[in-house]
Amino acid sequence: MLNNFPLWPEQASTMASRVDALYIFLLIITGMMTLLIFVCLVYFAARFRYRPGVRAEQIEGSTPLEITWSVIPFVIFMVIFAWGAAVYFKERTPPADAAEVYVVAKQWMWKLEHAEGQREINELHVPVGRDIKLIMTSQDVIHSFFVPAFRMKQDVLPGRYTVEWFRATKPGVYHLFCAEYCGTQHSGMVGDIVVMEPAQYEAWINGGSTGPLSASGEKIFAELGCSTCHRSDSQGRGPNLQGIFGKPVQLEDGRTVTADENYVRECILDPGARRVKGFQPIMPTFQGLVSEEQVNALVAYIKSISPASAGEAGKTSASTAVPKAEPNGSQVQ
Ligand code: CUA
Repeated sequence: MLNNFPLWPEQASTMASRVDALYIFLLIITGMMTLLIFVCLVYFAARFRYRPGVRAEQIEGSTPLEITWSVIPFVIFMVIFAWGAAVYFKERTPPADAAEVYVVAKQWMWKLEHAEGQREINELHVPVGRDIKLIMTSQDVIHSFFVPAFRMKQDVLPGRYTVEWFRATKPGVYHLFCAEYCGTQHSGMVGDIVVMEPAQYEAWINGGSTGPLSASGEKIFAELGCSTCHRSDSQGRGPNLQGIFGKPVQLEDGRTVTADENYVRECILDPGARRVKGFQPIMPTFQGLVSEEQVNALVAYIKSISPASAGEAGKTSASTAVPKAEPNGSQVQ
């Protein structure tokens, strides 16, 4: 129906109809209220108009009327709140088994890398009917990953990861926009999401791949000498990272954090910020020594050596999408 009456963008993800239903509900409520107010306005203007010789009389209070006009809007607002919250939590919580794509934004392009190792610029190929989780960061200023046909938009920040997810419902090419003003070429920071049939996608992903992202991460891990301290036999000077991802970590200051994408990232770029209990502050920072792509590869590698926690990883990283007032949330900007 909406295709012949294009007030809305195409619906091409599982979220699209949910978002539209809420939006249409809000439009109907607003339309009805506007109508009600105008009808009352016209009626009262006519009914209580000035007549020569008639004195205006004051009408005071009506408890039933006041209760009615308080309770009805309250119920309507609570419906909007509950419905909105349900849609929000659905959209904010990536399914645990979603395929992961790392996104690096910069002035003025989108760089994307699949877990399988495929790299793309301003283009993202995905199969239809599969949950895709985007783990996003920026190399410079704030950008925003916006795909109207999927009804999804999330700011992409320098110095931390934000997450969003979608499941495309029909093959096609959908427009990707940057939705946060980021400099002179902001309007040109666009791209395409190419949704393909699964078989077509398999052929695409297997052509020209450089190997899994976690394998490049493992290589970087060895090249930077990380493996000399972070030994898998727990005899190293740094914590053993096997199986750590998605698990709680005891910190030196007594707090406990979950080893999610943002924590691993922070440990690489600012190792002193939230140090693991029982280890000396000897790790150097890799700020400026590794690119955003290399940090992504390292995170993918740490994840890959924690196979059992895949389910929890999906849940914990959902919380990273919600801005939190952490004292060190902006240390690498
Ligand atoms: Cu990037 Cu606007």
